[in-house]
Amino acid sequence: MTAGTSSDPNPYATGTTRERIERALHDNGRSLDALDPADLDFLEEFHILGRLATDSLVQLAEVTAEDRVLDAGSGIGGTPRYLVRQIGCQVASVDFTPSTATPRAGSTG
Ligand SMILES: C[S@@+](CC[C@H](N)C(=O)[O-])C[C@H]1O[C@@H](n2cnc3c(N)ncnc32)[C@H](O)[C@@H]1O
Repeated sequence: MTAGTSSDPNPYATGTTRERIERALHDNGRSLDALDPADLDFLEEFHILGRLATDSLVQLAEVTAEDRVLDAGSGIGGTPRYLVRQIGCQVASVDFTPSTATPRAGSTG
């Protein structure tokens, strides 16, 4: 099965997402070995209503620093990074598309 073809039902599996993100970062002078979370701000919230939806959900669920949150379908992990920064809670993230799974997680927090 080839990613992004009609035989692969996963619309996110283009196989080029990570490569494109890394190229955009490189072309904008970012070092892939020393990324700051802010370097990924431009694509952190890839869902309807963006950060507004994230903040609303956090408020509704009354997430606190003592909570452990699971982000299923986390993409590149923008929401987990945001929750850790803003709330201080623990976040586990999973995504079934290898090419969107958190690039350089170790260097972005
Ligand atoms: C629209 S993107 C949102 C990414 C991220 N939550 C964000 O807001 O930036 C949807 C993501 O969910 C993932 N996904 C969809 N269905 C999934 C499933 N059943 N298990 C794990 N990941 C899934 C896709 O691979 C894709 O990365």
